[in-house]
Parts: sequence; C-alpha cells; structure tokens
Amino acid sequence: MNKDMRYITFALGKGRLAKKTLELLEEIGITCEEMKDKDTRKLIFVNEELKLKFFLAKGPDVPTYVEYGAADIGVVGKDTLLEEGRRAYEVLDLGFGKCRMCVCGPESAGELLKHHEMIRVASKYPRIAKDYFYNKKHQTVDIIKLNGSVELGPMVGLSDVIVDIVETGSTLKENGLVVLEEICPLSARMIVNQVSMKMEADRIKDLIKKLKEQIAK
Ligand code: PRP
Repeated sequence: MNKDMRYITFALGKGRLAKKTLELLEEIGITCEEMKDKDTRKLIFVNEELKLKFFLAKGPDVPTYVEYGAADIGVVGKDTLLEEGRRAYEVLDLGFGKCRMCVCGPESAGELLKHHEMIRVASKYPRIAKDYFYNKKHQTVDIIKLNGSVELGPMVGLSDVIVDIVETGSTLKENGLVVLEEICPLSARMIVNQVSMKMEADRIKDLIKKLKEQIAK
C-alpha cells in the first residue's frame, strides 16, 4: 500500500444501517476493529492499513458531509436522500433497509385522496410529501412537519393522512391505520462526493465493484 495514499472517508447513518453496512464491508475484507468497541465514545475510526476512515452521523447529515466533501462516501436511506436533496452521486443500492414511503391514514381518508380535496398531511418528510402531492398528484395540501411518531397525526386530529415509512406495517396496524397510496420503494444507498469520484476513481470504482459482486451473491 502506498504510504502517501490519502484516506477515503465514509459517513454512515447511525443505527441499523451502519451495522448492516459494516457487516457488508467486512464480507469484502474491509474491517474496522476500533469501531467494534461498544463502549467507545470516539467519533472517527481509522483503518490505517487500508487508509480508510469511518464516522457515524445522524442520517439526515450524511448527504451533507458527502456534498461538502467532508466524507467521500456515505451510506444512507433513500428517504433521506430524497428529503435532503443534496448533490452527490448515488452509486449503489445496498439492498438492505428495504421499506416503502406511503400515504397512510384511516380507511375513511381514502375518499379525500380520490376527490383531490384540500387535506392536511403530517410528515417527517415534508419535501417528499410536497413533491408527491404537488408535482405527481397535482393536489394542493397543507403539509405539517413532525419529527417522529407521525402516526399520531390522524389519530389525534392533527392531520387527515401522513406520509411515512412503512416497513412491516405493524405500527399502522396497531394504530388502526392503513396504506392508502404508495409513493416509492426505499432502501439503503451508497453515495459518493462528485469530486472524490474523479480524484479517487480507481479505489472507489473497485470498492463499488466488490460490493456489487457481494450483494449479488
Ligand atoms: C418508522 C416509521 C414508522 C415505522 C414503520 O419509525 O416512521 O413509524 O418505523 O415500521 P413498521 O411498518 O415496521 O411498523 P421509527 O421507528 O423510525 O420512529 P419514529 O416514529 O420516531 O420516526
């Protein structure tokens, strides 16, 4: 390994996605022992041998680090990419973290959607909700931003429907809500800074190739 080689930095969305990403990287021989220490308060982890750095960030911040080049590579959910709208190349669908972005609500709200009525939509993803209702459905709606437990919206009378992630569907079911419309499928994606893609083309392309082969197995 060339000692003058620069580090390639990965920003990983904290939580399940990071865990899955590290497992996948390990399968292609990229490990980061430092990161496995559960008690560590460290924020940045280094693999000196492969000249790689890793850090964990809040999901919505991952595309920001990548756009500005503070990270060369990021792994984050497609929902976050759509919502943040940052500049970066989306190079790979990692195939895990699969779920759907949906319009959900009580069964009765189906009628409101059909008739293009002015409705209230609660969501953690106002940009995705706006794009869907305004640009795809041509329906004028009132979008209310929430930060979590979005299912509460129609249950407490804040909104008619929600735009939210549905994975197993159990949160909806337990709260008497249903999927009314599907907006798009989601999964974990790898993104690359646009300059890094040129400057480190060989190393990054090789990594993408190895990951693709591993995912296809
Ligand atoms: C997500 C999403 C739904 C739930 C869907 O919430 O917003 O509430 O998971 O999963 P399910 O279909 O398997 O039930 P998360 O747990 O991330 O918490 P949040 O409500 O605070 O956003």
